[in-house]
Amino acid sequence: MEGEHCQTRIIKIDPQNVDESLLVPPAEVLREGGVVAFPTETVYGLGASIFQPRAVRRVFAVKGRPADNPLIVHIAEKEWLDELTPSCPPAAWRAVEVFWPGPLTIVVPRSAQVPPLVTAGLDKVGIRMPSHPVALALIRLAGVPVAAPSANTSGRPSPTVAAHVAEDLAGKIDWIVDGGPCQVGLESTVVDFTTPRPLILRPGAITAEMLTEVTGVEVGMAPGLSSPAEPPPSPGMKYVHYAPQGEMFLFEGPEERVHLELAKRIEEALAGGKRVGLLLTAEMAARLQVPEEVVVMTLSSRKNPEEAGTRLYGCLREFDRLGVEIILAEGYPRIGRGIALMNRMEKAARHHIRLESDEE
Ligand code: TXA
Ligand code: MG
Repeated sequence: MEGEHCQTRIIKIDPQNVDESLLVPPAEVLREGGVVAFPTETVYGLGASIFQPRAVRRVFAVKGRPADNPLIVHIAEKEWLDELTPSCPPAAWRAVEVFWPGPLTIVVPRSAQVPPLVTAGLDKVGIRMPSHPVALALIRLAGVPVAAPSANTSGRPSPTVAAHVAEDLAGKIDWIVDGGPCQVGLESTVVDFTTPRPLILRPGAITAEMLTEVTGVEVGMAPGLSSPAEPPPSPGMKYVHYAPQGEMFLFEGPEERVHLELAKRIEEALAGGKRVGLLLTAEMAARLQVPEEVVVMTLSSRKNPEEAGTRLYGCLREFDRLGVEIILAEGYPRIGRGIALMNRMEKAARHHIRLESDEE
């Protein structure tokens, strides 16, 4: 099957009013060993039953994903957790009681039920119960835990609408379940609960503060997240992610400095004959003078990183589609959802320029 061309069937499901009868064929294919892309509230996933090793291998193969990068196991009921882990730490339980179904992945000890193929040989497993009604219905109908990475070619931005999945994987997978655009747009928060102090391996919509409050234990950030020089604690961290084809520059600092720097860089890039794209806050887009030939994408107001999160990956794909060679992006304040947003923007950018305040 691997490497072979197959026919990809596409089905549209209304997430407001899920018609389960339409989900029966893809659910059966999933259970019987096919690979099926489906919507979640974060990004689209590419699913395989954890009990179908050939399907799991095919997921790695069609994505071009390195075999040492573990997959998240998706479940439809909290009770399924008991089969997948022999010992769920109390703090993890408290977290899932509040945040499941939702954009939180817990990393806990792996039971013998979970094949090492899924966890890339690790003795711990990432588990998540998504809140998207189509994802829940599909997994429940399949009746098996579903290993699913994001449904993009490895290294490309994660898909937030079904068309992105088709762009990368049409002709390589069995089904695409189209449930409309993803509500969050950034991948789930991944938290390792196997360490004495729980650590966030990947920031997402559920923040460290939210987790600390609910679990009663101090949840920290993995070292790799605060200082890039350290070795990555999560296998996924060492790979190039979310990257557009254009060379992306991320500017972070006081609005005034970023404004001046952008104006200068636009001129330089155009003088070099490059096709230039800008990724801006609404505030910056309103004040920056931009020559007509520059492609401008506005993410959201500076005060709305949630909306920016839903739009980021779509904008990066749009730059690719338009053949943009230089992307100049404005950073967001690192608070709340802005932490996850900036984590993805940093990964997408080849250059990160921190501008200091003029005063002091
Ligand atoms: O929102 C999401 O999490 C989406 C949707 C489809 O659910 N899935 C997703 O999967 O983003 P993926 O494979 O693209 O990212 C999974 C991340 C990787 O960084 C991986 O290293 C980490 O989770 N991860 C998974 N299992 C792990 C484990 N056992 N130990 C440490 N990290 C793990
Ligand atoms: Mg991914």
